[in-house]
Amino acid sequence: MSHDKLPTDQPAVVTCGLPYANGSLHVGHLRTYVAGDLYSRALRRVGQQTAFVCGSDMHGTPVAVNAAREGVEPREFALEFHEQYRERFPQFNIEFDNYGHTDDETNTELTQEFVESWIDQDHIVEKEIQVAWDAEIEEPLPDRYVEGTCPYCGEKARGDECDEGCQRHLEPGEIENPTSVTTGNPAEYRTREHKFLRLSDFQEYLQGFLDRLEGTENARNQPREWIEGTLEDLCITRDMDWGIDYPGDDREDLVLYVWVDAPIEYVASTKQYAERAADYDWEQVWKVDGEEAHGTSWDDEWTDDSGEIVHIIGRDIIQHHCVFWPAMLRGAGYNEPRSVLATGFVGIDGKALSTSRNRAVWAEEYLDEGFHPDLFRYYIATGSGLENDVDFSWDRFAERVNGELVGNIGNFCYRALLFAQRNYDGTPDADVSDEVHERIEDAVDRFETAVAEYDVRDLGQIAVDLADFGNEYIQRHEPWNLVDDDPEQAAQVIRDCVQLTKACALLMQPVMPEKAAALWAQLDEDGAVDEPELDAALATPPADFGEPAELFTKVESETIEVLNEKLRERVAEASADDEEESDEESDDAVELDALEDGRIGFEQFQDIDMRVGEITAAEPIEDADELVRLEVDIGLETRQVVAGLKQLHDVDELPGTRVILLANMEKAELFGYESNGMVLAAGDEADLLTTHEDAALGTRVR
Ligand code: 2FM
Ligand code: ZN
Repeated sequence: MSHDKLPTDQPAVVTCGLPYANGSLHVGHLRTYVAGDLYSRALRRVGQQTAFVCGSDMHGTPVAVNAAREGVEPREFALEFHEQYRERFPQFNIEFDNYGHTDDETNTELTQEFVESWIDQDHIVEKEIQVAWDAEIEEPLPDRYVEGTCPYCGEKARGDECDEGCQRHLEPGEIENPTSVTTGNPAEYRTREHKFLRLSDFQEYLQGFLDRLEGTENARNQPREWIEGTLEDLCITRDMDWGIDYPGDDREDLVLYVWVDAPIEYVASTKQYAERAADYDWEQVWKVDGEEAHGTSWDDEWTDDSGEIVHIIGRDIIQHHCVFWPAMLRGAGYNEPRSVLATGFVGIDGKALSTSRNRAVWAEEYLDEGFHPDLFRYYIATGSGLENDVDFSWDRFAERVNGELVGNIGNFCYRALLFAQRNYDGTPDADVSDEVHERIEDAVDRFETAVAEYDVRDLGQIAVDLADFGNEYIQRHEPWNLVDDDPEQAAQVIRDCVQLTKACALLMQPVMPEKAAALWAQLDEDGAVDEPELDAALATPPADFGEPAELFTKVESETIEVLNEKLRERVAEASADDEEESDEESDDAVELDALEDGRIGFEQFQDIDMRVGEITAAEPIEDADELVRLEVDIGLETRQVVAGLKQLHDVDELPGTRVILLANMEKAELFGYESNGMVLAAGDEADLLTTHEDAALGTRVR
């Protein structure tokens, strides 16, 4: 759902999910922050007053467990990573207006105020629950101190989330077969009393909220199933020392759950920014009618005079942002988010990014190779729609940099400015043609639409597409042949090209801010490239400017070979370590998943629509290591399906193979291809399921 009209006369805030201060940043983390930075720059570009804020997530077990492994106090451990991130983000031109952390005074005070407000409004209840406990060392095992089995999908899960399976948030006591991650001891459950935010108070409100919510589809749709039926209360306290103290005076032994104080940092960080920026009113953004808590009138609709709050997050934390967070805000009299943009995951060479297997490209590593940050920004922002998964591969990176940046926009701007400078000392004295005027106007409109539609990918792509037109235009008119024969026409063509270059600089600024500034300087424009509004794209460029320089440098194939080799070696080393470990523990037998404890009814089984099908076409997807595009005939229709079969099957042999297709699988987009169903297969070798007699295509499997 898109935004009505921009700019509004309200200040906006753009936030990114807070990184846990517990490890180095990799390209997967950076995707969200690049999107946030790009989008906040684009908002400013259309004249919207905007603050871009974030901070480090310092508390909770993600930090405490890692600190304990290192034998360091959590605060000291987290502060070190916090400092690292503060330096790292600007190196990728990710420039927050404020970057705080959840353990600072502003956030501590604000968090306690939020909780006090919930207590006052009677949204807090105390309940007896079962919490995991290590009986051998007499220690509680909150959240990530414990691992076990997800009660919903049966996958291996952490105490607070099913990170490898259904992605659900897990409440204390829910995980099955709990084991301590630090001692390996099987955990037992003990009864404790904890504080809960009564989410059911907000059930009706949340339904309306999701209907109003703008941003990516996944953020609006995924939570619907979670808020249907009974909305379980959210346990907001933990038995830990590390965290913000629960403010009620009846339970001084408890700290707040990390997911309480983490999102409140969005507000705290905005407040800190406003302390420095006199014209930015943080309360206008965050508070209902800019005032204090207003009670519990859930039927109050969000109105146009609320603030503009845009959250950009990874899709694994949709539930926290689209269910818990709006309830938390509402319960304390704060505005709800206007939009949530949830990004897909980042893969490496067609496989999942895995820090434990070292299959990752680290932020520091990218910079150490000497690549400009704007290249990465362009690559990651435009590689796929925001909510789709995107792949990072050095090969593809080089291909896109060389083709789209060096060969297209870089080439066009350099040619245009060089020709103009050599022949006219700058912008020729001629009018912009109607054709080019219109093209630039269209590009500006496209930019404004993309901001309103939260289309980060398109925002990153517009300038390159305009340059593509520029290259075609210059080739079509061959000004080098006109200089002598038709000097007036030559001047006009070059005037057009300089204007297109100026428009490119303005339009590329959100995605490649440093490269845009360099181009702006080459045009000898006054002031900074981020100052003028978009209509400056049609304002006359300076009459004189100096000799330009190439904006981008080609990435050499030898460099890419070395980088690929390095990555392969690292992954192989990590897998060898893994194998060594598992050799010590197990024999060669295939490790089988335990049988499900939970049973499903026949009705639930009926919901699964599996059909006999036949693959009629198969082709590898060029940039993906594992994926193939299949056409599967299921009698009633032919479905396009994307499947991870490339390395496990001979793709040419697949047509003619009979398969079983899960026909009512949610649609997904992978590498730009819609996948409409799932081909069933067993095991690591993707052994395809089939029938053995001649059931007709389309027959339902029961
Ligand atoms: O999942 C995470 O990495 C969390 N640190 C995100 C927190 S976002 C917010 F709500 F604060
Ligand atoms: Zn699960």
